[in-house]
Amino acid sequence: MPGIVIVGTQWGDEGKGKVTDLLAERADAVVRFQGGNNAGHTIVRDGDEFKFHLIPSGILYPGKMCVIGNGVVIDPAVLIEELESLRRRGIDVGGLRVSANAHLIMPYHVMLDTAGEAKLGKLQIGTTKRGIGPCYADKAARLGIRVQDLLDAKILRKKIMAALEPKQQALRPFARDPRLDLHAMTEEYLRFGHRLEPHIADTAHLCWELLDSGRTVIFEGAQATMLDLDHGTYPFVTSSNPVAGAACVGAGVGPRDIDEVWGVAKAYATRVGAGPFPTELEDELGAHLRERGGERGTTTGRDRRTGWMDLVALRYAARLNGLTALSITKLDVLSGLDPLRVAVRYRSSQGAVLDEFPYHQSILHGAQPEYEELPGFEDDLGACRSESDLPPEARAYLRFLEDHLGVPIRLVGVGPGRDQVIWMGEAPALRAA
Ligand code: IMP
Repeated sequence: MPGIVIVGTQWGDEGKGKVTDLLAERADAVVRFQGGNNAGHTIVRDGDEFKFHLIPSGILYPGKMCVIGNGVVIDPAVLIEELESLRRRGIDVGGLRVSANAHLIMPYHVMLDTAGEAKLGKLQIGTTKRGIGPCYADKAARLGIRVQDLLDAKILRKKIMAALEPKQQALRPFARDPRLDLHAMTEEYLRFGHRLEPHIADTAHLCWELLDSGRTVIFEGAQATMLDLDHGTYPFVTSSNPVAGAACVGAGVGPRDIDEVWGVAKAYATRVGAGPFPTELEDELGAHLRERGGERGTTTGRDRRTGWMDLVALRYAARLNGLTALSITKLDVLSGLDPLRVAVRYRSSQGAVLDEFPYHQSILHGAQPEYEELPGFEDDLGACRSESDLPPEARAYLRFLEDHLGVPIRLVGVGPGRDQVIWMGEAPALRAA
C-alpha cells in the first residue's frame, strides 16, 4: 500500500497535521500537493512546539524525505524562515525537496490579495491574505514565476516584468512600495533561489522512484474539501483543489499510485472566513465549542466559527474523495454536552428534503439542517487509548457516523497530545511495517 492521501473533509483545521504525523512515522516520504502558507499546523514533539506552514511536519523524523510538490504555491521568504528556524533548533532539513515547477508567491500577490478583499467589502471571502489566490490566478494565466526561474537572473527579471505589466492599475495604490521595485525584487528572489537551490529537484521523479520500489508515500492535503475551488462553497473557497484527486496533479503521480485515501473530520465542525456553514452555532454552545476546542487559527489567529457535525457535507466529502478510511479528531471536546446533535439532512427554504449536498448556491444558502440527537457523555476522554476505554455513548456516536458514511473510522483523537489517539479495530498495516 504505497500511496496514501490524507485530506480534510470539512472546512479545514480538522487536525490533518497530527494524523499525517502519526502515519508519517512509518512512511518513506511526505508530499504536499496544493495550497501554500495559508495552511498551518502545530506539532508538539517531546514537549517542544513546532509550527509548520509549508514544510511537511515529517521533517522532524531524521532522514525522512519531505516534498513540496509542483501544485503548491511557495512564498520563498516564508519557506526560508521555516527552514532557518528548524535549523536553529537542530533539526536536519536535508530531506526537504522542492519542486522546480512549483509557483512562487510574489510580493504583488500578497498586495493584490489584501486589496482584492478590501474592494469586495461586505462580500469578502475572508482569505488568509497570503497571496494564494492571485498566485494561482497568475499560474492559470501563464504569468507565474516558478521555483526554477530563481536560478536564472535573466529569465526571472523578464518574467517578473511580464507578470507586473497587466497589474499596473490594480497595483497603483502600492506604486511607492519598495517591495515593487523590479530590481530589488529580482535581486531578493535570486538570493532566495541561492538559498533554496540545494533543495530544488524533479520531485515527481523522486515520488515515482519510491512508489515503484514499493515504499510508502503520504500525500498531505492542506485546507479541505468544502474549501475546494471546484467542489466547495464557491466563491468562499481557497484557490486550489484540496480533494484527493488533486494529489495526482499536484505531485505528478498517477491515479493508480494512490492506494488509500484517509479523510480527517472533527467530531463537530468549524470554519474560518466567510461563506455558508449550515450547522453553525452562533450561540453560547458555539462559544463553548470554540473555547473547549481551542478554535483559533494557527495561521491568522482568527476565531473559528463552530457548529455541529454535518453528515450531509461529510457524505459529500466521502464520495468526492473516495475515502477508504476516516479519522475523527477532538472527540474529547464533546464531553459534557447532552444531547449531541448530528445533521443528517437539510430542509430547503421551500420545504424540500435535501439528502444530498446541494450544488446550487441559493439552495445551500437557504438550507436548514435537520438533526438526529444522540446521548452525550460526561467522561473526560483524554486518557482513553482503546475503543473499549470509551464510554458507550462515545462509541455509539462514532458508530452512528460510520453507519451514515459507509467509511470505517480507523483513528480517533481524544486530546492534543501525540499519544492521545485510539486506533480502531485493526491497526493500519503501516504500523506493522
Ligand atoms: P485563501 O486560501 O487565503 O485564499 O483563503 C480562502 C478561504 O480559505 C478563506 O475562507 C480562508 O479562511 C480559508 N482557508 C485557507 N486556508 C485555510 C486553512 O488552512 N484552514 C482553514 N481555512 C483556510
